[in-house]
Amino acid sequence: MLVVGAGGREHALVHALARSPQNPEILCAPGNAGIAADARVIDVRADDVDGLIAVALANDVTLVVVGPEAPLVAGLSDALLAAGIRSFGPSAAAAELEGSKTFSKEIMAAAGIPTARYQVVSDVDSGMGAIERYPVVIKADGLAAGKGVVIAEDEAQALQTLHRLLVEHRFGTQQVVVEEHLEGQELSLLALCDGRSAVPLASAQDYKRIFDGDRGPNTGGMGSYSPVPAIGAEQAQEICRAVHQPVLDELSRRGIAFHGVLYAGLMLTGDGPMVLEFNVRFGDPETQAILPRLRCDLLALLQAASTPGGLGAIELEWAAASAVTLVLASAGYPETASHGDVITGLERIPAGIDVTHAGTARTGDGDLVTAGGRVLGVTALGPDTAAARAAAYAAADMIEFAGKQIRRDIALGVGA
Ligand code: AMP
Ligand code: GLY
Repeated sequence: MLVVGAGGREHALVHALARSPQNPEILCAPGNAGIAADARVIDVRADDVDGLIAVALANDVTLVVVGPEAPLVAGLSDALLAAGIRSFGPSAAAAELEGSKTFSKEIMAAAGIPTARYQVVSDVDSGMGAIERYPVVIKADGLAAGKGVVIAEDEAQALQTLHRLLVEHRFGTQQVVVEEHLEGQELSLLALCDGRSAVPLASAQDYKRIFDGDRGPNTGGMGSYSPVPAIGAEQAQEICRAVHQPVLDELSRRGIAFHGVLYAGLMLTGDGPMVLEFNVRFGDPETQAILPRLRCDLLALLQAASTPGGLGAIELEWAAASAVTLVLASAGYPETASHGDVITGLERIPAGIDVTHAGTARTGDGDLVTAGGRVLGVTALGPDTAAARAAAYAAADMIEFAGKQIRRDIALGVGA
């Protein structure tokens, strides 16, 4: 099988797939310095559709698992299917749920899914006119690697953000969603989808801001934990019935079958769960905290989900343990990323800690160095969140590189 991508999520997928009793041979394109130790990495980029098809055909790949959103939105799954290769990941038509915030809002309205009130605007004046109160949420209508959303606290910040998005066209966007700010606890609920039905994975929480106390700019994610004790398995099923399933049904009505992961970013508000966003893939870094607890054959699940109705009435099994993932980011992230800082201490990490690589590379001398914004993920399991958290921080503190950034409040005070 072939895993497409180069981040911590893909490394976690490789680790989980390697546990399959089917004993798959795992290829990863393009992978990274850490994935190279666990899979055969192939130097083909995730956006090189023809290159990936050639790799799949040359190696008799029976399933391609697509990690990141951009190739999905660009139609990688469709192209693989056309070449006769099975792929886990939605078609371009279904991936618009993540590729276009306006499409996603339209689907939610049609399916009656609770979400924040919003307006779509394409110039700064209309944007300012759409604001009723502060804070207000301003979102670029397109892919922006988790960095296209700004929570503007006042008029000056709103004006500056709208200017960046609609005049400077940062992220290449022509339209912006101006949205009511919701308060509450955030939750990521991912579901495996087989075109007909949605099966929820364990709940997780992601920490989007760069600094402790949820301050500073949004990032791709600085840490996560799973499960979220505030949400029981029953409630996760309920949310899946109220959110994920109606999305699949609405897409079906439009002739679109969703195969893959449907990721709902939710806010648990006083008025119940409301959707902040949809993604069409595994979350990063949620996946690093979710998959180590899975007690079923992930490969079998992904194979089933890529077949119409293949998941049937499957029940997933999870370890009773809790998982906490910490992200170690390089100097300057998220505005920039530092490359070439030597990483030390990995050899001291105790057994049982899952280290996933994201932005790492090997130098000609064999040194491991930083090569991106998010550099490494450190995941620990424990009997409860507090124990997992303590083990994760103890391990993460053994790893050093110049300018290392780590949040100190991941999973703090979460309870059992
Ligand atoms: P999105 O990419 O739409 O999930 O937005 C990124 C992050 O911005 C979310 O994970 C939330 O932390 C925050 N966010 C997005 N929409 C809202 C909203 N309507 N109210 C409050 N926070 C939001
Ligand atoms: N952790 C947020 C995301 O994967 O989009």
